[in-house]
Amino acid sequence: MRITGQRWQPQEKAGSAPVRPLQIVPASAQAIEHAVDLLRRGELVGMPTETVYGLAADATSGNAVARVYEAKGRPQFNPLIAHVASVEQAVAEAAFDVRALELANRFWPGPLTIVARAHGNGSVCELARAGQSTVALRVPNHPVALDLIRALGRPIAAPSANLSGRISPTCAADVITELGERVALVIDAGACTVGVESTIVAVLPDEPVYLLRPGGITREALLEVVADVADSSGHGIDAPGQSRSHYAPRARVRLNADAPRAGEAFLAFGDTGRSGDENLSSSGDLREAAANLFGLLRKLDARGVAGSAVAPSPARGLGVAINDRLRRAAAGDPATPA
Ligand code: TXA
Ligand code: MG
Repeated sequence: MRITGQRWQPQEKAGSAPVRPLQIVPASAQAIEHAVDLLRRGELVGMPTETVYGLAADATSGNAVARVYEAKGRPQFNPLIAHVASVEQAVAEAAFDVRALELANRFWPGPLTIVARAHGNGSVCELARAGQSTVALRVPNHPVALDLIRALGRPIAAPSANLSGRISPTCAADVITELGERVALVIDAGACTVGVESTIVAVLPDEPVYLLRPGGITREALLEVVADVADSSGHGIDAPGQSRSHYAPRARVRLNADAPRAGEAFLAFGDTGRSGDENLSSSGDLREAAANLFGLLRKLDARGVAGSAVAPSPARGLGVAINDRLRRAAAGDPATPA
């Protein structure tokens, strides 16, 4: 692989482990080929879009998506936008009613994200959806992003490529400033033309179209396509991650357990030496645990047990977000604070 881009040299801190050299590569067919190769291997790539640069991962891989949360350093799982290349690819993932289709046909490719009910056989993994039954979809209006999605042949999960709580990057160098060696490659396509994040709407059955986040497409523009756009605040699906559909288990969840009590199912972390447990990661790998979390909570519930006992995950890195979600499950609290 011939990479001609500028090399970013990390500042070596005394005593720290060497970090891998980082690459900013000008957009080209070769750069896209290299990026696809990295994405297939579960690595993260800085992807230009017309709004802001995204931190791209294979949206179908729980492990790759776990790395996104890890890289952003976010203490909670906030669902990610799945970027697709066409309306057809979007409707393969989620139920689009007439309103969603009209919005998509009018504004895609472009800075509009549509949250819709995910199909049971959709390919976007549960961790990218943060365990919700909805999925956020967008066709970006950027030739490099579109080429990358088509070449990968799968949806690309990409939050803005900044650390949690920081400003979204609008050029390739910003991505490096934010994320350093956590990203394997940044495809440089110059400055983003829109510069603010996409507008997010939720289009769900028996609900008005809710505006979840203002952005590149104005409310007035949306109103040219749909009759009404409601403010989401106070309706339980307003702030990101606060969807009513956010999954909360039926069974009682007991935290910080080291063994199951009678009648309880056990959700372990690391090797317990016992059989019959569900295990977030028997090798104690936090990425694997994050990738398994929502599916296993659902599985425990499906077993119809009265209660589940859950072992703690280490309170570092992704373990913070895992424990946060487990605490919510235990409290029967479906919401994730913004
Ligand atoms: O312009 C953009 O939207 C950029 C580029 C890279 O596409 N992406 C971006 O992603 O801003 P991010 O993760 O920074 O913001 C996405 C927002 C999050 O606040 C998240 O909570 C919300 O979308 N979101 C994602 N899936 C959702 C869902 N199923 N329901 C409600 N909100 C959702
Ligand atoms: Mg963001």
